[in-house]
Parts: sequence; C-alpha cells; structure tokens
Amino acid sequence: MAKKIAKSLRRPLPAKAAPVQPEKPRATVTVTDNRTGKSFDLPVIDAVIGPSVIDVRKLYGDHDFFTYDPGFTSTGSCESKITFIDGEAGVLLHRGYPIQELAERSTFLEVCYLLLQGELPTRTQIEVFRHDITHHTMLHEQIATFYRGFRRDAHPMAVMVGVVGALSAFYHDSTDIQDPHQRVVASHRLIAKMPTIAAMAYKYSTGQPFIYPRNDLGYAENFLRMTFAVPAEEYKISPAVARAIDRIFILHADHEQNASTSTVRIAGSSGANPFACVAAGIASLWGPAHGGANEAVLAMLREIGDKKRIPEFIKRAKDKNDSFRLMGFGHRVYKNHDPRASVLRQSCHDVLDSLGIRHEPLLDLAMELERIALEDDYFVERKLFPNVDFYSGIILQAIGFPTSMFTVLFAVARTVGWVAHWNEMIEDPAQRIGRPRQLYTGHLPRRYVPMGKRG
Ligand code: SDX
Repeated sequence: MAKKIAKSLRRPLPAKAAPVQPEKPRATVTVTDNRTGKSFDLPVIDAVIGPSVIDVRKLYGDHDFFTYDPGFTSTGSCESKITFIDGEAGVLLHRGYPIQELAERSTFLEVCYLLLQGELPTRTQIEVFRHDITHHTMLHEQIATFYRGFRRDAHPMAVMVGVVGALSAFYHDSTDIQDPHQRVVASHRLIAKMPTIAAMAYKYSTGQPFIYPRNDLGYAENFLRMTFAVPAEEYKISPAVARAIDRIFILHADHEQNASTSTVRIAGSSGANPFACVAAGIASLWGPAHGGANEAVLAMLREIGDKKRIPEFIKRAKDKNDSFRLMGFGHRVYKNHDPRASVLRQSCHDVLDSLGIRHEPLLDLAMELERIALEDDYFVERKLFPNVDFYSGIILQAIGFPTSMFTVLFAVARTVGWVAHWNEMIEDPAQRIGRPRQLYTGHLPRRYVPMGKRG
C-alpha cells in the first residue's frame, strides 16, 4: 500500500509550463544614436523584486546593435523563480525563503525539494522524496572501475568531472530531456549519487576500500560514513558534525546565475543530457575564482601562517602588479556582506566547540585577517567582504576533510541548484540555444599569402 501511495504521490516536475507571456512592457527606455540622431525605444520588463530589465531580444534584428557586457555584470541571461539575491542588502532567498531561516530550521533534502518543486514539502511529500533520493544513492557497480583509471593523487575534482560525465553512459533511461519523468529521475539520480561519487573519490585517494551507502541513514550521515568509515570497525556519526555538513550543503545549494550554474544552463540549452551538463558545471566550479576558492583560502591561511604576516599579505592584495588576491573575499553580487559567510562564521565556532577544539590557529588567523581587512579603506571602498568560501574550509578541515575535497563538497551541494536551473531552463518557452555574439576588433578581410611571400 505504502508503495502505491508513494508511486501516486511522486509528482514529476511541473509539465511544460504554459507559455509565460512576458509582462506587458510597463515602460520603455529610449536609445539615441548621436552619430545619426536616430532614436528608438526598448521595452522594460519589471521583476517581482530587484532590477527591471531592458528587453534587448530584438535589438540586433531591429537596430543592428549588440550589447556588450564581458562577465555579464549587468546582463540577465534568463527569467528565473528559483533564487533571488540583493547584493546591496545581503539578501539571499530560495523560492522566497531567507537563507538564514532555511539554514537554521530546514534540512538539505527539504531545501532540495523546495528548489526543485517551488514549495516546502508536506510530511508525505518529503517522505516520498527522501525515499526516492535514498534509493538512488548506489552506483552501477562498473562505475567503480573508472576510479582505477585515475592516479591515486589525482585531484578529486578531476575525478568528479570524469565520473559524473560518464554517468550518461550508464543511465540511458534518464537522458531524454523532453520527457518530464526522465528529467525527474535524472535530477534525483544526480542529487542522490553525488555524495557516493565524492566519497569514492576520497576513498580512492587514500587507498581505502569504497563504502556503500546505507538506506537507514540521512543524506549527510550517509556521506560522512561513506567518506570516513572503514570496514574494520563501526563508524560513529557525530550528530553535531552531521548537522554542520547538512547546513553547509544548504548554504551552498544554489546561488542564482553564478558561473557554474550559467555553464550548466548554456550546456543544457544545446540539448545535452543532464549528466554532461552537471559535469560541465563541476568543471566551472573548480576555478579558484569560484568554488575553488574554499580550497585556496586554506592554502592562503597556511601561507600567511602568523598574524604578524597579515599586513604583508594585505599589501600584496592591494598591489596591482601582484596577482595575489585575498581568497574568500569579494563577490560579484554581494557588496555589503555574504549572508552565508555570517552563518558559516557562527557554525565554525559551534563545530569546533562540538569537536572539543578549543584553539584553532587557522580560525584565529582568519578572524584577525577579516578584522584587519574590514578596517582597510581598499577593501571597504571596493566592498570586499568575506564570502561563503572564507569560513567553510575551516569547518571542513576540523571535521577531517583534506583541502582537496572542499570544492568537491561544494559540488555535491550545488548539484541541486544546477538541476533546478536546468529543469527551469528546459521548461522555459522563451528558452533558445545560448549563443552570445561579440565586439569584433580583429583584422579586416585580407587575401591569403602563399608561404613564399610571407615575412
Ligand atoms: C563564489 O557568483 C556567485 O554567486 C559565486 C558564489 C556561488 O555561491 O556560486 O557565491 C561562490 O564563487 C564566491 C567567490 C569566491 N572567490 C573568491 O573568494 C576569490 C577571490 N575573489 C575575487 O577573485 C573576486 O572578488 C570575485 C571573482 C569573487 C569577484 O570578481 P569581480 O566581481 O569580477 O570583481 P573584480 O575582479 O572586478 O574586482 C573589483 C575590484 C578590483 O580592484 P580595482 O580594479 O577596482 O582597483 O576589487 C579588487 C579587484 O582587484 N578585488 C580584490 C579581490 N576581489 C576583488 N582585491 C583583493 N582581493 C580580492 N579577493
């Protein structure tokens, strides 16, 4: 009976939404080309909250102009209902719910349901969802052989890119992106299998045997046990550590149109299967300017080593001729504070207390670095504050993760954000293949020069 209820309650992601008619343009902006004196209007579309957009979809066709915005600082790539960020106010909402409330009161799986379905689940809905995710945590046994092809000292993010990309070779029954049911199965498989793949990457690097998932454990508990348990003894899960990991996953779950999510969207816009799209997202997240920053923060703190050396590194961070940047500082969108950093700073203290770590020199160093930087005009003027990556590494290191696994955990958490945006992109009637144009500043047309006549 339970199975029948479960089956009947399992809701595929919303079928293709009825074409969302863009809001009637409330206003227009007028563009005047002072070379010709010609003017034309462009429609403005209002957001529910946040900046309105200038709809430039017809700009090239009607007026032969491209827009120009390297890094997309002022460009909206899509319409989305999933996450809202107000960078000035330090606000982060997932389907309207503030991140602080979700981190405090929700669980990662509940946030996954919220991001995917748009509403917090009822008791029955979360039970069905949890059952689905739990029963997708195992991998096809042959996937284990992929790991043996890597060097033991391969960076685990390289393993993640390779193994996740290979999933489409095993799960053909969930690669038809036009089938809503297959999209649900692929989304659930990715959310469920990422912790297993990540834990196996860690185990492979240590030479220890892979640990299978267990269906009687929660999402964070399962991941901790697959990562740190050994067959030789029972693994005792610390509830405080499991709660900290679950909270870290919540804080990293989604973040609007960041680099890796935009990568997943543009890969998906060509019709690529979800496993390939998420592998592309993992590759993008790996960069030190993005998700790789948490690993880079620990390397930076270790390089600084002592509070006395902080001024030397602050000076380097301000020196335009020095490529050094304060890792874990600054953000493209947050210009006040990253609300996730505030939650993580508190979590640092809670986790260290629960682990009985009275004195963590790296945390002391990080907090002194934050204090000094936030009193320095250079950082204040440029609104450079600690971001989500500044404190997460200290917690993960205290729990026992090697630095190389920090971005892997970020990828495990962000998978739900990637698949939520991937689904929203496919269901968006306005969606087309992503194909930006450019400002061309290369050569004018010229004739081919035979080898004998070249310089
Ligand atoms: C994440 O997009 C997201 O939402 C990402 C993320 C998510 O959840 O998906 O939030 C996760 O990626 C967080 C960011 C992690 N990265 C780091 O901590 C790396 C260090 N930070 C920087 O590389 C930088 O701040 C970025 C990449 C985060 C933002 O870069 P921007 O928006 O392109 O800003 P910028 O490089 O144009 O910098 C503006 C100014 C420059 O100085 P000026 O040329 O104006 O004189 O600030 C300076 C920069 O030199 N600056 C820094 C700095 N970050 C910017 N100077 C020293 N140290 C830094 N960290």
